Amino acid sequence: MKKILSIAVALAFVLGVTVVMAATAPKTVTLKANPKKVVEFPHKIHSDKFKCETCHHKWDKKGEPRACLTCHKKKAGDAPRFFKAFHDRKSDRSCLGCHKKMAKEGKKSGPTKCAQCHVKK
Ligand code: HEC
Ligand code: HEC
Ligand code: HEC
Ligand code: HEC
Repeated sequence: MKKILSIAVALAFVLGVTVVMAATAPKTVTLKANPKKVVEFPHKIHSDKFKCETCHHKWDKKGEPRACLTCHKKKAGDAPRFFKAFHDRKSDRSCLGCHKKMAKEGKKSGPTKCAQCHVKK
């Protein structure tokens, strides 16, 4: 009995820690750093499927991940430019890179054509 109890306590502890550490993922994000290129990003379907750090690659897993734009600016600096963060064809963590890779592998993927993300209004 004592053993079961301590297991339960240990489990609650582990779960409790997980709950405290889990950052909240938004349902959708409107990416509008460039007002001429506004993109609706269905965040939840992505965060249900992939680990947070797939995309939030500099996240320390404490607190909330930071917006890509805090590092990826209009012009390249310490981080590649903002355009590259979302279109780098060689990287699984860019929108276009991941969609292209998965489509090539015959998996269900997201849009790969410019106009599918950059919907004309
Ligand atoms: C497929 C890529 C991807 C995955 C997986 C992902 N995110 Fe995100 N997330 C993004 C992008 C892109 C943004 C928009 C960032 C921006 O505005 O620059 C974002 C924004 C956010 C924001 C808002 C940040 C801000 O300040 O605007 C939070 C919080 C967040 N994500 C949490 C999470 C958590 C928690 C998970 C895992 C459960 C997760 N994300 C998984 C790509 C992803
Ligand atoms: C804390 C700063 C920071 C944040 C936040 C950040 N990045 Fe990066 N990113 C970098 C740096 C620095 C590099 C250069 C390579 C490296 O250090 O990993 C990079 C490289 C990249 C690359 C280039 C390809 C590669 O594999 O190196 C892509 C794509 C990318 N980031 C996408 C994103 C996306 C998408 C987000 C938001 C979900 C994001 N980054 C958030 C700093 C950041
Ligand atoms: C790590 C891989 C990965 C990254 C990075 C990624 N996606 Fe996706 N995306 C997917 C997959 C897989 C699907 C298909 C999901 C499904 O329908 O089951 C998808 C689907 C979509 C869809 C279609 C949603 C629907 O309702 O059919 C849109 C729009 C989309 N992604 C936009 C984006 C944007 C914008 C970004 C970058 C900010 C991005 N994605 C980054 C893997 C990714
Ligand atoms: C999977 C979705 C997706 C696809 C496909 C896509 N983009 Fe983007 N693009 C984005 C996202 C997300 C942003 C950031 C939007 C914002 O914050 O304003 C962006 C921004 C841009 C910007 C603004 C960059 C800046 O520095 O201001 C240009 C230009 C652009 N895209 C061109 C293209 C072209 C050309 C194609 C086709 C080769 C393309 N995009 C395909 C998602 C996509």
